[in-house]
Order: sequence, then C-alpha cells, then structure tokens
Amino acid sequence: ISKSRTNGPLAGKKVLVTAGPTREHIDPVRFISNPSSGKMGTAMAEAALQMGADVTLIHGPVNIPLPEGIDTVEIESAEELFKQVKDHADADVVIMAAAVSDFRPASYNSQKTKKEDAEFSLGLTQTTDILGWLGRQDLPGQIRIGFAMETENLLENAKTKLNHKNADWIVANSLNGDQSGFESDKNTVHLLGTETEQTFSGTKQDVGREVLEKIFNSQ
Ligand code: CTP
Ligand code: CA
Repeated sequence: ISKSRTNGPLAGKKVLVTAGPTREHIDPVRFISNPSSGKMGTAMAEAALQMGADVTLIHGPVNIPLPEGIDTVEIESAEELFKQVKDHADADVVIMAAAVSDFRPASYNSQKTKKEDAEFSLGLTQTTDILGWLGRQDLPGQIRIGFAMETENLLENAKTKLNHKNADWIVANSLNGDQSGFESDKNTVHLLGTETEQTFSGTKQDVGREVLEKIFNSQ
C-alpha cells in the first residue's frame, strides 16, 4: 500500500497524470482505440506519489491495479480526457502518458450500425492535441512532461514534439525495442529535455521513478 509522503521533492505539488488509451466510438458497440495498457502512466503516478505529490490520474479503460492514495478519474474518449485535463489544468506538473487517439469518427451512430446500412468508409476528424493546448495556456511555472511513441526517427520526432507542444520534457519510446511498448512490463525510454538527453531502461516502475528523479533533482 502506498502512502503519500509529507516530504520528498514533490511534497505539496499537484501532479496530474494521464494514462491508458482512449476509445472513440463509431456506434454503441464499436470503437477506435490502441493497445495502451496504462502501465507506464500508472508507474509515473506511483513514482510521483512516492516523491510526496498530490496525484490525480485521469485514465482510459485499463485492466491493471491503480495505486492507492491517488485520485483517479476514468474517461473514455479523447474529448472527455480533454475536458478533465482542462478541469485539472492548475497542476504544478502534468505528465501526459495517455495514448490519445488522434482521430475520432466524424459522426456517431446512436444505434448499432447494421451491415446492410454500413458505408465502406469511415470519416474521421482530428481530436484536440491536449498537451499542445496546455502548452499554449502558458500556465506559470507548470512543468509539462509528454510522451512520444515512435516507430522511426525517434529522437528527431521527439524533439519536434518537445518544441511544438511547448513541453519541458519528452519521454520518447521506441516501439521497435525488444522489451518495450504498450503491453510490456519493461521499457526503454529516452528522456529529452531542452538541453539534455538520457536513456533509462528497466521495469516501468524503475523507469518512472528514475525519470522523475532526473527531472526533479535537476531543478
Ligand atoms: N497527445 C495529446 N493529445 C492528442 C494526442 C497526443 O495530448 N490528441 C499527447 C500524448 O499524450 C503524448 C504527446 O502528445 O504526451 C505525443 O503523443 P504522440 O501520439 O506521440 O504524438 P502526436 O503529437 O499525436 O503525433 P503523431 O501521433 O502523429 O506522431
Ligand atoms: Ca498521436
């Protein structure tokens, strides 16, 4: 059982973590999603708690135990996640580990789509870039940590995300590693700051703790 600490580098700080996938419904029985397990984001939430933070975890549908001692909010779609993030935007630290769907169906069929009626194409609309939105709010002193999941040009793409989203750090994940990725218990990440770059490898718990220690002991 985890207990929040009254000391530690994040004592008294509000940390908002997002984790897991989103689901974008086509109709009541079908949706677009991705295989995010929520493990990396949950490990970040746990690490922040251990460092003394008041943690809120906003998560999509996940099948893993959530740490005790934190506030949790469950969401389903990217739009619901965006609304919850706006409601919690006063956080000192935001960790956007959620695998947010970039697209949602342009229209929702409130009844199950029948084969006979289905069109052969699905119209899609882009969702809001939530981390990008936070970056444009310019909340004084807020530290924003994004993630980047890439299959190629890992560091280059992650650097672009760092800049475009006005984030302070990007945790870059390669999907090509042996023991990394959505469902794995382990991960290898490259932590990219505006001036530094460092690699961390291990269980998602270890990686979560080491990443936060690097960020909050270098302040
Ligand atoms: N993100 C977000 N809102 C979205 C999509 C992504 O806040 N609608 C966040 C993710 O939680 C992550 C970061 O942005 O912290 C990067 O997500 P990623 O999917 O790697 O990048 P995208 O900007 O969506 O670009 P692409 O998927 O095209 O690589
Ligand atoms: Ca994306």
